[in-house]
Amino acid sequence: MIFKNCCYRIYQCVLLNVMHTIKYNNKAVSKKGAVYYIPGLLKKQGITGNVLVITGPHIVKTALFHKITSVFKEEGISCVIFSGTGAETETGGIEKARKLYIAKKCNAIIAIGGGSVIDCAKAAAAGVTRPGKRISRLAGYQKVRRKIPVIVAVPTTAGTGAEVTACAVIKDTVTNNKKIIADTGIVPRFAVLDPLMTGSLPSYMAAYSGMDALTHATEAYINKYSSKSAEKDAETAVRLIMANITKVYCGTGGSICRKKMLEASYLAGRAFVRNAVGYVHAIAHAIGSRYNIAHGMAVAVVLPYVLAWYGKCINKKLARLADICGIAGKNLPESQKAKIYINYIKMLGKKFGIDKSFYQALKDENINKKDIKNMAKCAIIESNPHYPVPKIMSLKECEYLIYRICNGSYMVNKL
Ligand SMILES: [Fe+2]
Repeated sequence: MIFKNCCYRIYQCVLLNVMHTIKYNNKAVSKKGAVYYIPGLLKKQGITGNVLVITGPHIVKTALFHKITSVFKEEGISCVIFSGTGAETETGGIEKARKLYIAKKCNAIIAIGGGSVIDCAKAAAAGVTRPGKRISRLAGYQKVRRKIPVIVAVPTTAGTGAEVTACAVIKDTVTNNKKIIADTGIVPRFAVLDPLMTGSLPSYMAAYSGMDALTHATEAYINKYSSKSAEKDAETAVRLIMANITKVYCGTGGSICRKKMLEASYLAGRAFVRNAVGYVHAIAHAIGSRYNIAHGMAVAVVLPYVLAWYGKCINKKLARLADICGIAGKNLPESQKAKIYINYIKMLGKKFGIDKSFYQALKDENINKKDIKNMAKCAIIESNPHYPVPKIMSLKECEYLIYRICNGSYMVNKL
């Protein structure tokens, strides 16, 4: 086991060294009404004529969307609209978007939507550069390797960080399998962070996505071999989320708080592109895909369990986060501050009704030993050795943790 862990660490160290040296060509524009600046941004890049606007079937019907496209028209930019993306970025939809881009001779892609819409734009843009290749064949690491069209990402939720990340999760329409296109060349050129776009987000969605961003920032922050710039991004993201998430959930914060949440989500995304995520995401992916549970809901429930499992090896970092958020007394010991940070996350999950919805969703499931074993296996395959987590989890430990999560038991670690 010691030898295995040592190999993991060498692998992670090499991988992270490569990731830290990557230069991202991504610029964020954060302002209320920033969406109307897009024609100007495009013109500065020498882009005119047709642009492909990828969005969701609900957004396309809104008055705000019509206003955006009419402003584009006034500025001499013609929008070719594709609204065939679903909750999951299926390769069938991506193929259609790619064909439309080529047929209408588009010069850029504007993605207006949540993570799946932005991922669709990344995958379609990658596909445009390799028109003879099936989209699913682009899945894997650095398979695109060509300059893609300019993407302007306009997130309508504050959480996924897709507007700044270098990957796109796609679902193969033929095999039904989820795959990842991971390539530093698919990062959107611009992230337009406009609180006008999140104004009609239901409060439960604001809570799910905000907790997802909090998880990205926290996991990136506690991981090993982190870079200073990513740590700074994560710290700022955590501070912004803790100060604004409740107000946004309650609908009392207005556009200022929603803008701060968008900025936090962006920074958390930028932090995890460099420092990766960890067991929270791996376990949440396993539980989420087995029981069809929303990603933000799953990570919000799993986060405090995994942080408590790491124990004292992350006390210093969690204490620092607690200090940054101003939720713990200055003179308390680190272990106490770390506990306060974990308890604060649990409290948020309860306040937003996430715990209740999660256990409600699991209520009718007959979770047996075999399911837990399978989920643990998936989580360990996803994480070991790819995520530079602060402490390596064995398969048995993972099974026990998933058992406790599914039973809602915060009892002391005992294996
Ligand atoms: Fe996430």
